[in-house]
Amino acid sequence: MASRTQYAFLLLSAVMASLFAGSAAGVYHIIGAGKGWRMAPNKTYYADWARTRNISVGDKLMFLYRSGVYNIVEVPTKELFDACSMRNITNRWQNGPTIIELTQPGPRYYFCGVGKHCEEGEKVAINVSVSAPTLPDSDADADDDDADDSDSSAATPATAADLLIYLAGLAACLLPALLLI
Ligand SMILES: *[C@@H]1O[C@H](CO)[C@@H](O)[C@H](O)[C@H]1NC(C)=O
Ligand SMILES: *[C@@H]1O[C@H](CO)[C@@H](O)[C@H](O)[C@H]1NC(C)=O
Ligand SMILES: *[C@@H]1O[C@H](CO)[C@@H](O)[C@H](O)[C@H]1NC(C)=O
Ligand SMILES: *[C@@H]1O[C@H](CO)[C@@H](O)[C@H](O)[C@H]1NC(C)=O
Repeated sequence: MASRTQYAFLLLSAVMASLFAGSAAGVYHIIGAGKGWRMAPNKTYYADWARTRNISVGDKLMFLYRSGVYNIVEVPTKELFDACSMRNITNRWQNGPTIIELTQPGPRYYFCGVGKHCEEGEKVAINVSVSAPTLPDSDADADDDDADDSDSSAATPATAADLLIYLAGLAACLLPALLLI
């Protein structure tokens, strides 16, 4: 229907914009690709998605989801991630879209903290590799110290391309029908 066409268009816009933004500001990775961030169709869906991506320092993760229905929590260890344990959350975001800039190499663990969504497979572990481009130090420091970060600081569009991507993501999150493909 029209909304699906629209959604495809928005995703395409985001992808196109990310190509232009890519050279200067890092690649955007839309978590789960066309499915966004939602109840996984099966338990390996997000792991399968992550395996197809090369994610480097300076890149950004984009979570598209309905606020209030899903959220994102970050935990520091694989053990907590495997157990879907919310005992030591280092970050939480709850307003889609969430854009997370990756400022440090190493593993990162995210899952949905709502109900049993994590147990059902709405979880993604990524491995951020070192990349050549230099990063502004101030950004790295700011993000680092922000435990219990909330959305306001998560996504501050810096360039026109970032803004376009953010708006496309916002539209995808605000129009529920669009996330039902
Ligand atoms: C999980 O779901 C995706 C998308 O529907 C599908 O492509 C994939 O083959 C499924 N994997 C398993 C193990 O069922
Ligand atoms: C990731 O990057 C490596 C080295 O650049 C390359 O060999 C590999 O094919 C890439 N993998 C994917 C899934 O793009
Ligand atoms: C949670 O964090 C505290 C302080 O960083 C640490 O001492 C504790 O072992 C952690 N617990 C788990 C289950 O990881
Ligand atoms: C993450 O990537 C680095 C290299 O980029 C590699 O040395 C390390 O083993 C990887 N870790 C995991 C858990 O895959």
